[in-house]
Amino acid sequence: VALNVSDLGRTSAFAEDMFGLAPAGSGPSGERRFRCSSRVNDLILFQSDNPGFRRAGWELEDEEQVDRAFSHFEKLQLAPRYLDADEADALGFRKNAAFRIREPHSGAQFDYFAYMEEKSVPFRPTVAKISRLGHFALNVPDAKATTQFYVDQLGFEVSDYVGDQLVTLLRAFPNPLHHSMGIGGSRTGQAHLNHINFMVTDIDDIGRALYRFRENDVPIVFGPGRHPTSDSIFIYALDPDGMTWEYSFGMELFPETGARKPRFMSARAEDFDMWGARPAKNFASSGAIHSGL
Ligand SMILES: [Fe+2]
Repeated sequence: VALNVSDLGRTSAFAEDMFGLAPAGSGPSGERRFRCSSRVNDLILFQSDNPGFRRAGWELEDEEQVDRAFSHFEKLQLAPRYLDADEADALGFRKNAAFRIREPHSGAQFDYFAYMEEKSVPFRPTVAKISRLGHFALNVPDAKATTQFYVDQLGFEVSDYVGDQLVTLLRAFPNPLHHSMGIGGSRTGQAHLNHINFMVTDIDDIGRALYRFRENDVPIVFGPGRHPTSDSIFIYALDPDGMTWEYSFGMELFPETGARKPRFMSARAEDFDMWGARPAKNFASSGAIHSGL
């Protein structure tokens, strides 16, 4: 995932010291890379006057799938564009094997790739044992049409509906994780970032985050709590631009065949969290969708 941030230094410090991501150098436009896996980058931060969601990358099974997806998006007239050698290199993709589209419902840019360069030095956890960049969620003007598009054209499966299009949790089939993406309705009429998520390996990581955030005046906007849908234990906090970042522990896994049907979960306040946590007003409400290249 790539984010735009208003103060690169400040959000870089937040990513490293508060969330425990490992700095992994700078890119050609001064963007800063961070890792939480063996890959060359999991999160990239760009300096911008308009903080928000810049881009996400989806890993496909192999290069044949990348070409198949490219043809599919050409037929849908989404104008997919293979990244040039420098762009691919800066992102750790193999040359001529990654392309970019703008998803028409949210306006978000997605890169599709089959391989990302890996480092010989493993990610070394510091303040939290991050297992992976888990997912992100976007709010869109028409959540129903958007969700339908993701299922029909982008290959996602619905794991659960929360309320009537309040949030739909989608898995990037055949990835077994309950959700790699969430889609919610926008109350402003504009698409915006809901949150980004990092999964942790220990429940202690959630508890430690609670006290670390408090100690450092990082606003906690939801949690700790436990989602009734994915069974994840979570805590959400605001980054320096007011964008919502989440840690979660545990998640339901789905088999590739014979998976259960999606459920239609209550979105009533008393059903929203198993422990009684309530989101703050500024939860998941900041972060514009990047409209530039
Ligand atoms: Fe989440």
